[in-house]
Amino acid sequence: MAVTINTLRDYKQKGEAFAVLTSYDATFAQIVSEAGVDVILIGDSLGMVLQGNDSTLPVTMADMVYHVRAVAKGNTGSLIMADMPFMSYGTTAAALDNAAELMRAGAHMVKLEGTDWMADTITALSDRGIPVCAHLGLTPQFVNKFGGYKVQGRDDQQAELMIEHACQLEKAGADAILLECVPAPLAARITQAVKAPVIGIGAGADTDGQVLVVHDMLGITPGRRPRFVKNFLAEADSIQGALAAYVQAVRQREFPGEEHTFQA
Ligand code: KIV
Repeated sequence: MAVTINTLRDYKQKGEAFAVLTSYDATFAQIVSEAGVDVILIGDSLGMVLQGNDSTLPVTMADMVYHVRAVAKGNTGSLIMADMPFMSYGTTAAALDNAAELMRAGAHMVKLEGTDWMADTITALSDRGIPVCAHLGLTPQFVNKFGGYKVQGRDDQQAELMIEHACQLEKAGADAILLECVPAPLAARITQAVKAPVIGIGAGADTDGQVLVVHDMLGITPGRRPRFVKNFLAEADSIQGALAAYVQAVRQREFPGEEHTFQA
């Protein structure tokens, strides 16, 4: 049966963890979906892992639409979440037009990076039938404001503000929250504070779902491996085996372990 936002809500209610992975093309979408991954994210990480840029900022709407179309063709029942690229939701009017384009291309949900300033835009999208995931914490489109890729929410004031923002954005209509690189105890508090399913990356074991970039979990991303990444291909004999191991490790809450987690 196809995964919908209701499936993710049910997982949260039952306390069952769900698996999310990025994919950018039809072949990967098919094997990722067949491995039982619940949500496929067409992340703007494609700007780095496919295009070779040093940030996600150069990714355009045309790039995203191209990859969403390809993923939609390979998908066999996962929920398709598409990133809205840098500045494609700078105004509510732009967000509506651009999100509609991603939905027409085959997305079931869009993801926006930011905080309370997105509330009205999220309401406008949600009221018009577009499910939204709000991405908080280390939001890579803000790398120039953060001065690098740094763990967010480490001090008490920042942590309280992040909880407030998650609640505000859920109230505005967000159907899911994604937390990137935040201390595990803070991610656990946010997961408790909202009814919407919370997906974590570098956010500890207590979020409702886990996401990784597929190139990272296959160990093929060049350069230093971030703390929150595990190479699942190292212990498998095929890509399909690595995907299955990831899904199982997430469902059984064996991944992420302490070694993949940030503390306050
Ligand atoms: O772009 C992306 O792949 C993402 C994940 C890292 C969560 O946003």
